[in-house]
Amino acid sequence: MNSVAARTKRRTQSPAFAIILLFLVYELFQFSYQHGQWVVFSPSQPNSSWQSKDESTTITNLFVVQNFEVVTTNYGWSSTSTHDAGKNSSRRIVTGEFYRSIISHLRYNASAWADLEKHPDPSRRLIVFMDVDTCLEMNYPFYGTKDWLVNMEDGYPDRYWNSIFEDNCPLIARASNSPALLANPDSRLIILDCSGGSHLHLTKACAGDNSTFQNDQVTVAYISIDKRRVRPFLHTGLPPPAIKYANLSEVERSSVKMCKYRKYLFSFQGRDVGGRKDLFRNIEQFNGTYVKLLNQKSYLGDLHKGGDDSNNYIKILTQSVFAGAPRGDQLFSYRLSEILSAGAIPVMYNSEYLLPFHGVINWTDCAVLIEPGQDTLDIITAISPDRVCEMQNCALGAWDKYVSSRTGWVRGLIDVALSLPPNNYNAS
Ligand SMILES: *[C@@H]1O[C@H](CO)[C@@H](O)[C@H](O)[C@H]1NC(C)=O
Ligand SMILES: *[C@@H]1O[C@H](CO)[C@@H](O)[C@H](O)[C@H]1NC(C)=O
Ligand SMILES: *[C@@H]1O[C@H](CO)[C@@H](O)[C@H](O)[C@H]1NC(C)=O
Ligand SMILES: *[C@@H]1O[C@H](CO)[C@@H](O)[C@H](O)[C@H]1NC(C)=O
Ligand SMILES: *[C@@H]1O[C@H](CO)[C@@H](O)[C@H](O)[C@H]1NC(C)=O
Ligand SMILES: *[C@@H]1O[C@H](CO)[C@@H](O)[C@H](O)[C@H]1NC(C)=O
Ligand SMILES: *[C@@H]1O[C@H](CO)[C@@H](O)[C@H](O)[C@H]1NC(C)=O
Repeated sequence: MNSVAARTKRRTQSPAFAIILLFLVYELFQFSYQHGQWVVFSPSQPNSSWQSKDESTTITNLFVVQNFEVVTTNYGWSSTSTHDAGKNSSRRIVTGEFYRSIISHLRYNASAWADLEKHPDPSRRLIVFMDVDTCLEMNYPFYGTKDWLVNMEDGYPDRYWNSIFEDNCPLIARASNSPALLANPDSRLIILDCSGGSHLHLTKACAGDNSTFQNDQVTVAYISIDKRRVRPFLHTGLPPPAIKYANLSEVERSSVKMCKYRKYLFSFQGRDVGGRKDLFRNIEQFNGTYVKLLNQKSYLGDLHKGGDDSNNYIKILTQSVFAGAPRGDQLFSYRLSEILSAGAIPVMYNSEYLLPFHGVINWTDCAVLIEPGQDTLDIITAISPDRVCEMQNCALGAWDKYVSSRTGWVRGLIDVALSLPPNNYNAS
């Protein structure tokens, strides 16, 4: 159903139906991150980038949500040009997985972008992904490698970060200004930014191109960013790709479901950096916890290509109820995803970190967020066993649905796009 049909239909609905819709709108859109804190909105509070508009546009939007197409630009790998531009564009292994997940989505329309660039159609709502690499992921699937080529996909040119900055920034700008995207204000372009440090973020790398990142139809999904630095509502977090994860057996899964006893209340294993000794000192002394701070060599020996499992990293996680996920060198941590894979509850200390698919994954249900000055043991021991059980299942559920695979990334990003506040203010 297109938006015109939706509006026509709405007028014929009963008040009760409208109330149910309003409730749904409320449920979908009630949280926003603004000015350093989460803000709860209700439709009666007319203050956000979208709520200043007539509520009826949000109702329209709910109908439009039923009707969207997943598309990719045709500038790179999707290009049908005889120049084979796609082959010219380098690609990380993680991006190859992601791209294949997009084009196997049920609603993927391979011919739409080319057609809509020529004949923009306001009645079609698009969720658009780039068909070139924008994801500077340096550690997947092989962590800490000096040979960056091992994380690039075979059959594509060996261009490292420069291909993203030099070749792909203009393509991102082209997509964000494309009539195919702009025709329907609720169409969205979703761009991955997998950089750890802010100096490599696309907003920096594509400097000079301010129109892309100020465009309300562009959502950037960041693996690692301070939430105060993104535009409220519009941008989102992306879960790091797990490097070393648990593949729980059916028996282990049903143990999580039934909340069977686990040996460790809390565990952490990792490098002895960034104040972790202080962070975990008290915990270490508590019976029923496992804390092991390792030197760089021992830690990497466990993780990098061909590494063994000499530290029982995964086994310890699968024996833990809670597991520490402090930030790494950057704000994010691969460990967050790895903890979820084990059906353990992540305990996080980076309160400024933009959480993956926040608003789609309810992190209050799946993780413990420790603020500076709070005591980890006080907090986790105060959680009731029933609640702990729910949280473990929430964590494993988030892993299965959104974190474990690039198909999960696509699912999460589409869920984010569909729950974003509508832009179609002018629908009339
Ligand atoms: C809406 O919020 C912004 C930022 O918090 C504030 O500057 C503005 O005055 C508010 N507007 C209304 C109508 O409350
Ligand atoms: C391939 O990439 C190089 C380097 O960016 C560029 O000069 C060349 O024009 C590209 N070729 C095609 C066919 O796109
Ligand atoms: C896919 O896009 C093409 C080109 O715009 C269009 O003709 C076709 O109807 C679309 N298919 C679906 C299933 O929406
Ligand atoms: C883009 O924004 C930055 C910072 O906001 C500013 O310094 C720069 O001049 C802008 N560039 C353009 C081309 O407007
Ligand atoms: C996980 O384990 C199952 C068997 O228990 C196996 O079939 C599957 O391929 C494994 N998946 C991964 C990603 O290793
Ligand atoms: C630690 O906990 C285990 C299991 O609850 C218990 O058997 C053991 O006696 C405890 N050890 C100490 C030193 O309290
Ligand atoms: C997230 O979970 C918490 C705890 O269960 C709950 O209080 C809150 O309402 C949930 N938030 C949303 C947006 O569902």
